[in-house]
Amino acid sequence: MNKVTAAITGVQGYLPEDILSNADLAKIVDTSDEWITTRTGIKERRILKNGASSDMAYKAVEGLLKKTNTDPLDIDLVVLATVTPDYPFPSTANVMCDKAGLRNAWGFDLNAACSGFIYALSTGAQFIETGRYKKVIVVGVDKMTSIVDYQDRTTCVIFGDGAGAVLLEPNTEGLGVQDFILRSDGSGREFLVQLAGGSANPPSIQTVEQRLHYVKQEGKQVFKFAVTNMAEVSAEIMEKNNLSSEDVDWLVPHQANLRIIDATADRMGLPREKVMINIEKYGNTTAGTLPLCLWDYEKQLKKGDNLVLSAFGGGFTWGAVYLKWAYNS
Ligand code: UT7
Repeated sequence: MNKVTAAITGVQGYLPEDILSNADLAKIVDTSDEWITTRTGIKERRILKNGASSDMAYKAVEGLLKKTNTDPLDIDLVVLATVTPDYPFPSTANVMCDKAGLRNAWGFDLNAACSGFIYALSTGAQFIETGRYKKVIVVGVDKMTSIVDYQDRTTCVIFGDGAGAVLLEPNTEGLGVQDFILRSDGSGREFLVQLAGGSANPPSIQTVEQRLHYVKQEGKQVFKFAVTNMAEVSAEIMEKNNLSSEDVDWLVPHQANLRIIDATADRMGLPREKVMINIEKYGNTTAGTLPLCLWDYEKQLKKGDNLVLSAFGGGFTWGAVYLKWAYNS
C-alpha cells in the first residue's frame, strides 16, 4: 500500500468588510501612505468591528465545508492557530466547533504567532499520516485589531484581521505535505510581545494604564531576524528535498513586510511571478496570512505544483513547509 500523506483538499478565507486605508491611519497617527507603502508594501487592511476570532474562523470553516461538500459531522479534529483567542479559555477551536456544528470533532488552539499556520498545518498532518483521522481542519485566524495600540504608529499600520482554513485529507498519490522544518527561540520574546493579560502580568488597573495589553514590537530587530531566518529556512527546505528554483512553483510567504518577502524569494532564486503576495490588501493578519494567500491564488494552482510555505514571527518562531498541491480548481 502507498504511503499516506496529508493533502489540502480545499481552502477558504474570510475577511471582514470594513477597510482601514493608509489615508485613514494618517488621520489617527503621524504617518503617511508613502511611508507605509515604501516600508511595508501595505495599502489597506480589514478590520472586524463586531465579533471575535471565532466568528471569522467559523465563517471560513462554514465556507470550506460547503465548497468541499463536507458534512460537519465528519470532521475529526480542528487545529486552530491564533494569538488573539476569544478568551484565555475555553479555546477558540472549541467555540468555533460549536458555532459551526462540528459535533464529532475535538480541537485545540496553537500559539506560534505569525508562524501559527505552518505549526498547525504540520501538527494536523500528523493525524492524517498516521491513519488516525480522515478529515482535519487547520485554521489560521487573528483579530489583531483587538491587541493593536492605535497610539503606536510603529505597529498599528502593520496589522489587520482575517481568517483562513484548509481541509486535510489522506492522499495515496504522493501529494500534500512532504516535509517541514520548524524552529523556535524564546530569547526573541523581548522584541515582539504582548506583556500583560497572561500569568506573568495578570490584568490590573496598572497594566491597562501602562498599555501593556497591546502588541509591542522592536521593528528593526524583528526585521533583522525575520529577513535572515525566513530566507535561510526556505533555502534549507529546498536543499533538504533536492528542489531547485525551477522545481518550486510557488513561494507562499508570511505577509509581514514586502521587503522580507522579496529577500526570501531572492535567496530561493524565485522571480516575483512565483510568489504569492496579498499584503497590500490585508496587511499582516498573523496566523491568517498563509491560508489567505492560498485562497487568493487557489485558481492559479495546479495539481502537483510544488509549494514552499514560509513564516517568521513572535517567539521567535519560524519555519517552512514543503507541499505538493493536490487538486485543480
Ligand atoms: O509578522 C511578525 C514579524 N514581524 C515582522 O516581520 C516585522 C519586521 N519589521 C518591519 O517590518 C519593519 O521594521 C517595520 C515596518 C515595523 C518598520 O520599518 P523600518 O524600516 O524598520 O523602520 P524603523 O523602525 O527603523 O523606523 C524608521 C523611522 C523612525 O524615525 P527616525 O527615528 O528615523 O526619525 C520611526 O520613528 O520611521 C519612523 N516610523 C514611522 N514614520 C511614519 C516608524 N513607524 C512609522 C510610521 N509612519 N507608521
